[in-house]
Amino acid sequence: MTTFDLAETDRLLTTTRAVRKRLDLEREVPRGIIRECLEISQQAPTGSNRQGWRWMVVTDTAKRAALADLYRRGAGNYLSDGEKQSAAAGKSQDARVFGSAQYLAERLQDVPVHVIPCIRIDHLPENPPPRAWAGLMGSIWPAVWSLQLALRARGLGSALTTLHLAHEKEAAELLGIPETVMQVGLLPVAYTIGTDFQPAKRPPLDTILHWDDWDAAKDG
Ligand SMILES: Cc1cc2nc3c(=O)[nH]c(=O)nc-3n(C[C@H](O)[C@H](O)[C@H](O)COP(=O)(O)O)c2cc1C
Repeated sequence: MTTFDLAETDRLLTTTRAVRKRLDLEREVPRGIIRECLEISQQAPTGSNRQGWRWMVVTDTAKRAALADLYRRGAGNYLSDGEKQSAAAGKSQDARVFGSAQYLAERLQDVPVHVIPCIRIDHLPENPPPRAWAGLMGSIWPAVWSLQLALRARGLGSALTTLHLAHEKEAAELLGIPETVMQVGLLPVAYTIGTDFQPAKRPPLDTILHWDDWDAAKDG
């Protein structure tokens, strides 16, 4: 006997997409829903049980506009070039992703809620070794994904983005984020237009799975 309804659980896990074009820019998002989903995310694991997650939620209109500007500056031509190059190479999934990302970049200021996941870095040694970075990132991304899943279960969509981080310092100044805290991304959050999201096409599992021995015939 299983504890969960597997069909529903798997549907949540396989259909939580990066939502951009289907974010409802008109519908207000109650504060309570964001708080509820963030509370759920606090059950995520952290290295040494440090629980260094910090969340910056931005709904202020002027601050969202300023973040959107930083985001677009961070993107430069990356998204529009990516769309053209992927289309020219016949990579239709990539072209769609870049096109959708470009759409978001143009409208980010209109997305009702920006959530910036952050993590405390005051315990990091100078020149942190890879293990320290792995531990740090591994202590925030699980919570971010839990947040995205909890939002999706309630009819809201999000997309993990990182482009504004090119101007992280300016964002920190705008929002008063101290130097002991690192931003790791920005999630636009809104209700979704419709809820019928589908699993994305991914490579067959056997092309990425190694069992007991690394199979060099598979690409590294
Ligand atoms: C580390 C990371 C950084 C990302 N940065 C951005 C970004 O800056 N802008 C954006 O629109 N999407 C960004 N994405 C979202 C990816 O494009 C998206 O997860 C991927 O295309 C898969 O989309 P899907 O889940 O809808 O299939 C990022 C995703 C990850 C994991």
